[in-house]
Amino acid sequence: MNQLVMKKGLPRNQYVYGRALTPVSLKTAPRTVIVSNRVPSPNEKGPTAGGLAVALADAITDGTVWFGWSGKRAAETSNSADIVTADGVTYATIDIGERDYTRFYNGFANGALWPLFHFRSGLLLYSRPDYEAYRAVNKAFAKALFPLLKPDDLIWIHDYQLLTLAAELRELGVVNRIGFFMHIPFVPPAMLAVLPPAAELLAGMSTCDVIGFQTEGDRVSFLECAKTFLHVKPDDAGRFAFRERQVKAVLTPIGIDADKFTALAERAELTGDAKRLNESLGERALVLGVDRLDYSKGLPQRFDAFGRLLYCFPQHLRKVAFLQIAARSRQEVGSYQALRRELDRRAGDINGEFSDFDWVPLRYMTHPVKRNAIAGFYRRARVGLVTPLRDGMNLVAKEYVAAQDPANPGVLILSRFAGAADELTEALIVNPFDADEVAESIHLALTMELPERKSRHDSLLAKVRHTTARKFCEDFLDYLANAEKV
Ligand code: ADP
Ligand code: F6P
Repeated sequence: MNQLVMKKGLPRNQYVYGRALTPVSLKTAPRTVIVSNRVPSPNEKGPTAGGLAVALADAITDGTVWFGWSGKRAAETSNSADIVTADGVTYATIDIGERDYTRFYNGFANGALWPLFHFRSGLLLYSRPDYEAYRAVNKAFAKALFPLLKPDDLIWIHDYQLLTLAAELRELGVVNRIGFFMHIPFVPPAMLAVLPPAAELLAGMSTCDVIGFQTEGDRVSFLECAKTFLHVKPDDAGRFAFRERQVKAVLTPIGIDADKFTALAERAELTGDAKRLNESLGERALVLGVDRLDYSKGLPQRFDAFGRLLYCFPQHLRKVAFLQIAARSRQEVGSYQALRRELDRRAGDINGEFSDFDWVPLRYMTHPVKRNAIAGFYRRARVGLVTPLRDGMNLVAKEYVAAQDPANPGVLILSRFAGAADELTEALIVNPFDADEVAESIHLALTMELPERKSRHDSLLAKVRHTTARKFCEDFLDYLANAEKV
């Protein structure tokens, strides 16, 4: 029998159960059960580099259950979840076994799926044992989640780490409505065909009732893949029948809590870290990049573009500083280690070429920065440089817009290959592979007159305030709640 116990070190409103063997009783039904690989720790208020946790944290409500990985590696993957409730939200997490973790997370999820879905098939490393571990971890998630479920729960699974979880839940007899949201891009059939278990993964996804995407392009690519690999016939609304179930592919772009972020940036602007940054800059204009250190973010190309700016537009020498915050991410994966070495080299090249005894053009740091500090940095930045080679959405672009002072806003430069470019059309849209085009856009942004900056920002802010994190959650859950129960 599980007992409700107070645990040392937790605030008074947090309680810890023993290993859960029976459903946890929560007040309302239907509940939303969010499932994602990463679950924010209710005890840590530190920075979270990653769009998923940021967007969902903005929108969860009382009674929600959030299930996923504890962030801990153990000797073996857990059979059941540890449960903590905090501020009305129940966090249920399992540990992943060391060997499973390496093959599931570093191997199949981030060594095969991540590069492939970011159109980098050349970086894909596939091995059957990695895929088997991926399946095993998805199965372990299903087994540990199963006893926590109530008949009316809406189950909402997130992202590429959990493509086969819904199929495992169905195997266990779960008939609840299940939704899946793909945070990263989806690829067309010719690209997906590279992956040996492509059809199995699509079939796994298609045991859901609703499958959501960031852009129309991603949704269409998924439907094309479903036609090619599963031989289904979607209708004009993106619905198709698969194994006696009606599946619907929907467009529900993710967003941020814009008003909250604006308030955060206003508060942060002249205090703490933002104040220190401001003092170090003096009168210089700030060009800012904020990313996880990931090859999808186009960082080497961005550094080159900044080098081209200094070379082609020498009027900015000594008058501009580029700060790139690139939080280390997935450092056990070889391609990420190689990227870090590459960036160290290019940063050294640029600073070696252009620095003066009292001016360093490029500041590059690889540790995460607190969220309020980032908000203050955005507000100080004259240019927000968001140039991924491919990105599902990119919340940094939206945060940058929300953080600006409407009376004197900075300019967003945005890659046409970020999902956000579908919405944020008043940014300076660039091809991140073209260093000269990006350099010209930085020059344009640095010299843009106030009326044009304001008019672009007004339109962008209206959009960021419309497609919020809350709207994303409500739209998706609406689709899910209205799906036919089979
Ligand atoms: P992804 O999900 O691929 O990491 P997004 O741009 O959608 O990319 O989301 C990134 C989120 O993580 C944003 O909320 C951003 O503020 C935060 N973030 C990104 N880089 C850092 C960093 N270096 N330090 C702290 N937070 C970061
Ligand atoms: O948005 C893609 C994503 O993988 C999210 O699932 C995750 O929050 C973020 O990037 C960070 O990745 P990771 O969990 O591997 O650190």
